[in-house]
Amino acid sequence: MRFDVLTLFPELFAPFVQSGVTRRAYGSGQVQLHLWNPRDHAPGNYRRVDDRPFGGGPGMVMMAQPLSDCLDAALAARGGAAPVVLFSPAGEPLRHANVEHWAQGEGAVLLCGRYEGIDQRFIDARVTHQISLGDFVLSGGEIAAMALIDAVTRLQPGVLGDEGSHVQDSFNPALDGLLDCPHYTRPELWAGQPVPAPLLSGHHVQIERWRRDQRLRITAERRPELIEAARAAGRLDRDDEKLLASLKPAL
Ligand SMILES: C[S@@+](CC[C@H](N)C(=O)[O-])C[C@H]1O[C@@H](n2cnc3c(N)ncnc32)[C@H](O)[C@@H]1O
Repeated sequence: MRFDVLTLFPELFAPFVQSGVTRRAYGSGQVQLHLWNPRDHAPGNYRRVDDRPFGGGPGMVMMAQPLSDCLDAALAARGGAAPVVLFSPAGEPLRHANVEHWAQGEGAVLLCGRYEGIDQRFIDARVTHQISLGDFVLSGGEIAAMALIDAVTRLQPGVLGDEGSHVQDSFNPALDGLLDCPHYTRPELWAGQPVPAPLLSGHHVQIERWRRDQRLRITAERRPELIEAARAAGRLDRDDEKLLASLKPAL
């Protein structure tokens, strides 16, 4: 899997690829990350990549030609066509289902906008997908690109130390699509708060039931629409429904 990232700030990615559980995937080439700076494809001594917006107004706009030339170079290095993803507040919100889609693919070219954004003619001509990290505005697309690459990388086989760990994570439809349960570690008593008794019982069935009940409780309280989705997909059994019926208000 290969990601080519077009960014005016490639240095932001150095600590990203060197840290945490995913660094092995980048080091071994299981997930390849190639950085491209549109400035290297801008003409003149100043290597200008932005200009004032037509129609006036604040800020600067990234120019189409350096981006287009940079994208051509990235696509040529990949050996041909690839999805071209722009990070934008106007994109489709990033969710687990999208992450799974990209995790099963060959990667993509990722465009990180800066300033007021990118000349629309470039977007119309070259961009195939637009992704938003949420309903807020970042200073640039780099953090969004890292979010997508990280989420996709941890789903690749062998990347996480424990293969089972992403299966247990929030939003996984292969499990139940619910939020994760709370987690505890030593000591058994911290700041007057004990670890919930079922987790210390050593009784596997009891532990699994407690975790399942917690997933249901937390999801019902914070993201009730995920309960509805799990129900519609037939992922709730009679014990689940009994627990949900006992909550106030019942779901
Ligand atoms: C300052 S923002 C531009 C915001 C734009 N003028 C607007 O109001 O929608 C600069 C760049 O950051 C990135 N960006 C900002 N917010 C984002 C979000 N929520 N999701 C993904 N990318 C975002 C985009 O690449 C964008 O081109």
